[in-house]
This record gives sequence, C-alpha cells and structure tokens, in this order.
Amino acid sequence: MGHGRSLLFPIGFTLFLLAVDAAITMGLVSSMVSFLHHNGRGPFAVAPPGGSLFLLAGEPANLVTDHGHTTNAAGGTALVLVGLGGSIALWLEKRERKKWDRSSPAFHLWTLIVFLSWLLTMVALIYTFVETDKTGGQAINLGVARANRPPTKYPDGRWTPENWYASVLNLPLASENQRRIIEGNLTIMRAWRWNLVALFILGFALLALVALEQLRMRRSAQSVRFNHVKEVSGRRDFR
Ligand SMILES: *[C@@H]1O[C@H](CO)[C@@H](O)[C@H](O)[C@H]1NC(C)=O
Repeated sequence: MGHGRSLLFPIGFTLFLLAVDAAITMGLVSSMVSFLHHNGRGPFAVAPPGGSLFLLAGEPANLVTDHGHTTNAAGGTALVLVGLGGSIALWLEKRERKKWDRSSPAFHLWTLIVFLSWLLTMVALIYTFVETDKTGGQAINLGVARANRPPTKYPDGRWTPENWYASVLNLPLASENQRRIIEGNLTIMRAWRWNLVALFILGFALLALVALEQLRMRRSAQSVRFNHVKEVSGRRDFR
C-alpha cells in the first residue's frame, strides 16, 4: 500500500463533517414536524382591516410532506450508515492494512454505501427544491379562508409547509406573538432546505476522496503485481 499517501485521514475528517451536518438536518426536520403537530395546527386568528375577525385552520387541506420524509431518510442514512458505519469501516481498514497490508471488505462495502447515500441526498435535494418551486408563488385568498372555518381546512392548492406558512404570514394575523412563532419556525424550514445543499456537497467530497483512495489502492496493487512479474521474468532471462 505504499503508492502515494493514504487518504484515510481526510476521509475521516470529511466523514465527521458530513455526520454533523446530517445530524443538523435531522434536528431541523424533526423540529418542523413538532411544530406541525403543535402550534402549527392553529387555528390562527385573522383580523382583516375593516372586516370581522375569523379563524383559519393552521394547515391547508393539501399539505405536501413527502420531501420532508425523503430528507429525513437522507439525513438518517448519512448519519448512521455513512457516519457510524464509516467509523467502523475506517477502523477495520486501518487494522487490516497494518496487519496484512491489504484492504478490508468492509471498506469496499462502505464505498458503495457512500455512493448510494449521496444519490439519496441528491434525490431529496431535487425533490425538495422542485416541490418548493411548484407550490410557490401562491397566496391565501381571504374570501376562501373566511368561508372555510376550522375544522375545515383551506381547500385550494397544494402547499409545502414552508410555502404555506410564508403565505400565512402575509395575512393580517391578529396576534403579534403568533406571528413571531410562525416566523421562527419558517426560518427552520428554510434552513433545512438550504442545508441539503451543504449535505450534498459534503457527500460528494467524501465520495470523491473514497473513490481516489480506491484508485490509489488498485494502482499500488497493480504495481506490486507488475514488479513481481518483472522479477520472475528477469530470473528466467538469467537462466
Ligand atoms: C416554533 O414553534 C414552537 C411551538 O410549536 C415554539 O415554541 C418555538 O419557539 C418556535 N420556534 C422558533 C424558532 O420560533
């Protein structure tokens, strides 16, 4: 394994950053889920200027959440299979190299997992940005909202939580405190969406390092074989 410098240290460092970012992703998504189950359910009091106050159910009839589940799965895979599994695979790999000067099967399996996890992050990233874009640019119609009192939910359109609560904030809400709570949680929703970009980049950096290390090991294995063949044929020439 003496062909160039081993990349195991930068791999371990990138792995650590990825695991931390994956944990942040899961934390942000689960705090959104908690908001959706508590304060986010409403109802919210709306006070149109010159009209009478009415209540709006906290969630629309068509709330899109599958991109959130996909993101949670991508975060969990990166944290557990890539992060935790990778720590074990790297430890085994170091031991195997020291003892036998060869690579461990765990490291090869883990390389495949790094690739699949990166693909899943890419799916979550694309899915989330596409859904956010598709359900964006809508506004809550005051007349429709007024005509659909809780427990009836706002019937029109499909909404990601982020786009829905952004539109709720455009309504004349009666409570300033309620507005602040929604604003704070809306920031969390935006944060996990943009954090997917960081998770994707870190996943790619890790994949590139692991691929380079695999390439380096293959090359050094080949050069060992090549030297061996030279030695053997050299001996034949001698005879
Ligand atoms: C999010 O909503 C919860 C209530 O569900 C509230 O306690 C919390 O302060 C809000 N978060 C932020 C950052 O405003």
